[in-house]
Parts: sequence; structure tokens; C-alpha cells
Amino acid sequence: MSIKEEIDKLTEELKVYQDKYYKEGVSLVSDSEYDRLTDRLIELEKEHPELQHPDSPTKRVGSDLTNDFPEVRHTIPVLSLDKAYSDEAVLDFFSRSIQKEGGALSFAAEEKIDGISMVLYYENGVLARAVTRGNGEVGNDVTANIMTIGAVPLSLPEPLDIAVRGEVYLNKADFEKLNAAESDDAKKAANPRNLAAGTVRRQKSSEAGRVPLTMFCYEGFWANKEETPSDHLHILSRLKTLGFRINPHLAFFDSDKETARQKLAAAGLDGDPYAFSELDEFIKKKTAERKDLPYEIDGLVFKINELDVRERFGYTEHHPRWAIAYKFEAPQAEAKLLGITVQVGRTGRITPVAEISPTKLGGSTIRRATLHNQEYIDELELAVGDTVSISKRGDVIPAVESVIEKNNEGNTTYTLPSLCPCCHTEIVQIGGLQYCPNYDCPDQVKGRISYFASTDQMDIETLGPKTVELLYDAGILRSIEDIYSADYSGAENLPGIGEKSIALLKKGIKESLGRPFITVLSSLGVAEIGRKSAELLVKNGFDSMNRILNAVDRKDREAFAAIPGFGELTADRIITAFSSPSLRKTIEALSEAGLHMDAADDEKEKSEEQIFSGEVWCITGSFRNFNPRTKALKEIEKRGGRTVSSVTSKTTHLLAGEGGGSKRADAERLGVKIVTEDEFMKAIGGEKENEGNEDGQLLLF
Ligand code: IVH
Repeated sequence: MSIKEEIDKLTEELKVYQDKYYKEGVSLVSDSEYDRLTDRLIELEKEHPELQHPDSPTKRVGSDLTNDFPEVRHTIPVLSLDKAYSDEAVLDFFSRSIQKEGGALSFAAEEKIDGISMVLYYENGVLARAVTRGNGEVGNDVTANIMTIGAVPLSLPEPLDIAVRGEVYLNKADFEKLNAAESDDAKKAANPRNLAAGTVRRQKSSEAGRVPLTMFCYEGFWANKEETPSDHLHILSRLKTLGFRINPHLAFFDSDKETARQKLAAAGLDGDPYAFSELDEFIKKKTAERKDLPYEIDGLVFKINELDVRERFGYTEHHPRWAIAYKFEAPQAEAKLLGITVQVGRTGRITPVAEISPTKLGGSTIRRATLHNQEYIDELELAVGDTVSISKRGDVIPAVESVIEKNNEGNTTYTLPSLCPCCHTEIVQIGGLQYCPNYDCPDQVKGRISYFASTDQMDIETLGPKTVELLYDAGILRSIEDIYSADYSGAENLPGIGEKSIALLKKGIKESLGRPFITVLSSLGVAEIGRKSAELLVKNGFDSMNRILNAVDRKDREAFAAIPGFGELTADRIITAFSSPSLRKTIEALSEAGLHMDAADDEKEKSEEQIFSGEVWCITGSFRNFNPRTKALKEIEKRGGRTVSSVTSKTTHLLAGEGGGSKRADAERLGVKIVTEDEFMKAIGGEKENEGNEDGQLLLF
């Protein structure tokens, strides 16, 4: 046998043993026999490097040569993923995508492995390069180290040109074992990811080879586009056939479970089928299972299945538009607490706010975070100067989560002032919360005016909190009723306000005169009377301001308490609030200004028939005719319907657009009527065929 023949034979033989071992965990030969054959091949390759196969099994062992990780340009886009922190945000991604595509889509859901992103480039079926992500365009060539990973095929059964993306990682158990064996504390890694990252960049691949790294692959890019499978499921199944390790924990989402199941089966993959409506269930399940997985995951990845759609959606500068990562933990950051300021809300509620060192968090710079109330500060034992951790979930206001390090300036736990920071009235305690009891406190007045004018209330365009503040400070607006009687001519010289905005403001004010009585009632800022209680009042006979005030003056507690959901406490509070001379003055002035003080006023002017009156609507998914979808809410409200953000037993209708999620399942379970966009359009007369039946009644409702 010639040297070449011997090398070829050893190469073939060892490949079979390795394959069997790495893929199935089966040893076909004893360890000593395996080592003997390997050593012989290493020796022959050393003497005749020109005869070494590029995918020689000796690469698994690594070598003592020094790696220098040259920079290599990627030939595929190596981007990271856009992030979501709530199931709502993932559902939103589903529905936005479906809406954009204007047709049905399905989504693969994978575990987001907390490891090192790696691209494997195969040329003619042989692993040519393994390249780190780097900056997305240029990465480091770490091929020698990656070749020691048993799960990485050194060659493929077919002579393909293909790039495969995946995650190199270390199992938790292997990490614990290796870290325990490391006697130098300074060299211990903080987590499996760090150890894996260090290993990938070991200078000697023989050392990298001693760390049992492994790899899951999740994306494939064929040089020859025609060979590219048509969807993600078929890519995964093809990668699997080619010898790559694919994470078996795959889930697949479609509009219904059966379709999802069929698509998985068609691709020959084991995976869990889900309907879109089961998303929150899926996320809950994965969150619970996370700690029991042998490896670390930091989230879930949702990817559009259809490749042609991916191509149409393309990429932003940073992310593909066809995928999103759901992260288990909200972003957290460290900041220093520079001070605590105190805000006075429209109801007099006092809220402490943390002023923190500018901190980047979830894509924006945070300077303030809520501290809720004194009790919360006491629980944290929070003092100015402390280093704190800040969190942000989804879109909500950032909050101080915990104290990381106490200040060394001698500051002790912060206590709210005893006087209102705005009007210096003594602060009072009500049910663990702090309030300024002065109805005329400037901050409260400003808050009340802003609330009255806000989009969800009287919706007076251009009268936002900033304008209110300016007009208040200039002495032009000093109460809600002033809105309708103020002389705005003096406002034109105020900074940021000009003739144009005054004209717009006047127009907005005029338009607001036509708002229905319920809106007027709920805009007054009486703590007990939000939109829901305003509706309840009207529905239960208090359909005019006079009826309400008469009962208040009679101190007719029973009449209010009899309203379902009200009770005596609320009744008493309503009586107290409406007995206040200041509020009475406001109501009188608003009535004179011409605002609706009687539900009957609405009838006169009403342009829309109140076809949804008494109904409670929730919406889900995305809509052809309403973008943003809050426009659909407005249509419902205009017609007397109430809108809520989740489906409960009180909900009467669910307006379901494309791609809605768990709300649909909730509606089905609770027997809530599900209305399609087409049906809704008919009901509101948005389409020609809105004729109704012979009685002129709408067919649906
Ligand atoms: S897909 C263009 N799938 O998470 C496709 N990424 O910022 C982008 N990751 O850099 C990646 N598990 O390193 C994808 N199943 C998975 C993943 C995954 C982990 C990593 C990947 C990426 C980062 C996202």
C-alpha cells in the first residue's frame, strides 16, 4: 500500500468512526484503537502535508500551531435580530407581517441559543471556512477551532456550495465540570457562553478540542438559488439530511394547528404545531421549560417560513424584517440615582421619580424611572447616590428594580417631603399613597386640563401638556372651563405658540363642543368616574348632569350604590366629588359654553347611529381599513361602543383582523361574538352593501 493509499484508507475509516460517534453516540472501536489510528494518520499527514484531505478527521483533534484568526468578508448578511419582550409584541410582528404580505403566512419558532454565532462556508461540499459574526460584514476565520467540534460536518455528502449559520455553544453540565476543574479563580468563566467564546478563540486548536463545544444550525444559504428549498422547514430538514445538527425543539405557527401540523409533517420534521392564538401558551411553556434544558437559551426566535416572502421583506440596516427574537428578560441596566423628584398628578397623587445618570436601555437613553410610592422606596431602602438596576419591559415606563450598590456618601433611605412640592400644602396619606389635598394646586389644575383635552377624552387637538403648561403659566388657562372662554390673543407671543397653532387650537376647541355627554362626564377628572363608570351612570338612568346633581344634592347614596359595580363607597365618593363648589362651578361654565350635559344633546347632533351602544368590544390582529388599528377603536366608540384591551366575560364582541392571537381563543372559550373586518365594515356602513334587512336593521347586531 502506498503512503497515499494508507492516508486515504485511514481517513475514510476514521470518518466513519467519528460520524457514528458524534451523530449517534456509538463507538465502533475501542478508544485505544481509535487513538492508534488517529496518531498514525497525524504522523503520515505531518510527513506528507500535500496528501492530507481538507476534511481530514485529524482536524477534530486540533493542532498546536498558533491560530491567527484572519479577517474574512462574509458573503451572506450576518445580522442580529430585532427584539420583543412580550407576547403582544410577537403577535404584533405576526399581524404586521401578514398585513404587509396581504396573505397567509406561517412562522417557525426556535430556541434562541445563548452561544456564539457562527457561519460555516462549504465549497464543493467541504468545510472551507468557519467565520465569527464580527461586525456582520467581516468576521474572524476560526476554522481550525470549529473543526474540532464533532457536530460540525467537515464535508457533506454532496458537492454543495453553501453557507450555514448556527450557534456554537457549551452544555451547562460541561461548563460546570470544566469550571470546577479550573483552579485559578480568575480564569473561571462567568457562564457557558463566555467559556464557549473563549474556546472559539483559543490559539491552539488542540486546546479548543478539549472543550466539548457543540453546534445547532438554523439557517442555510445556497450559492445556487435554484437549490434553495422554498421554506424554512424544508431548509431545516435539508440541513439535517446533509449532516448538520438541528435543534429538535422546533415549534411551528399557522392560523390553525392542523395546518401547522401538516406543514411540519410535509417537511419530515418533528416539531410542535401551534395556532397563532396559542402563542402566549407556547411562550409560557418555553419559559417554564427553560431551566430544565441542557443548554442556555435567552429567548425564542420567530421566523417567517416562506422564503419568497423573506426576500420581499428584506433587511433593515441591522435586522432581517422577517424574524424577531422574543427575549425572556427585559433589558436591565445599571445607573446611579442622582436624585428623586416628586410629581403631582391631576388627582393630587404624589409620585416619586428617580433621576438617574443617562443610561442606554433597550435602544433609548433613560434619564428618569418611576419609584411608584413611599412604600416602594422603603422596600428597596433606596437612597440618593445608590447604584440601581433599571428595567424596561416593552413600551412601559422604566422602573428602578433594585439597589446594586449602596452609596458611600452617607445618604439614608429617601422620604417624601411632607409638603406638596408644587403648592406647599401638607401631604395626606390615603391607603398607602400620598396626595396633595389642594384642588387648586397648579400641578393638579394643569394635569386636569391636560387630561380633559387628551386624545382619549375631549380630544382637543394641539392642547397637549406642554401647551397647557405655557397657557397656565401665562395666566390664560387657569381651569378646565377657561378652555372655552379664554382670550387666546395673548398667547401668540408665547414661545413655541404662534398664530397658526392658536387657530388650530380654536378649531379643536370648537369641535370638542360636540363630544357626547359620556365623554364630557368622564373628562371632568373625577377619580371615580372614568369612561366605564360614566357609561354605567348613563345606562342606569343618570343620563344627564342634572339627574346626577339632583341625586348628589339629595345625598341619594342608594341610587348610586344600586348601580352594578358601584357600591356604597363609590357612591359616597361620587357625592363628595360632585358636592365640591369648584367642580360645580366648572360644570356650570361648561354647560354655558354649550357642552353636552344631557345624553339627549348627543342625539340631536349625533352623526353616527349609536349601533354599538351597551356593547363591549375588543380588537385583535391587523386590518386592511384601519391602520393604525386604533382607528377601528374610534369607529366603535363613535357608535357608542366601549372598547377594552383584553377579552373577558364582560366583552360582547371581538373584532378579529388578520393574524390575531390569543384573544381569539379567549373569545371562543367565553362565547364572545367574533366579528370579521368585512362584517364590521358592513355594520358601520363602510361598504356599499350595508343595506341591512327589510326593517332597515343591520343584519349582524
Ligand atoms: S436567526 C438572519 N435563530 O441570536 C437570521 N438566531 O440577534 C438571524 N441565535 O446573532 C439569526 N439562536 O447568533 C437565529 N435559532 C436561532 C438562534 C439565533 C440563537 C442568535 C444568533 C443571532 C442572535 C440574534
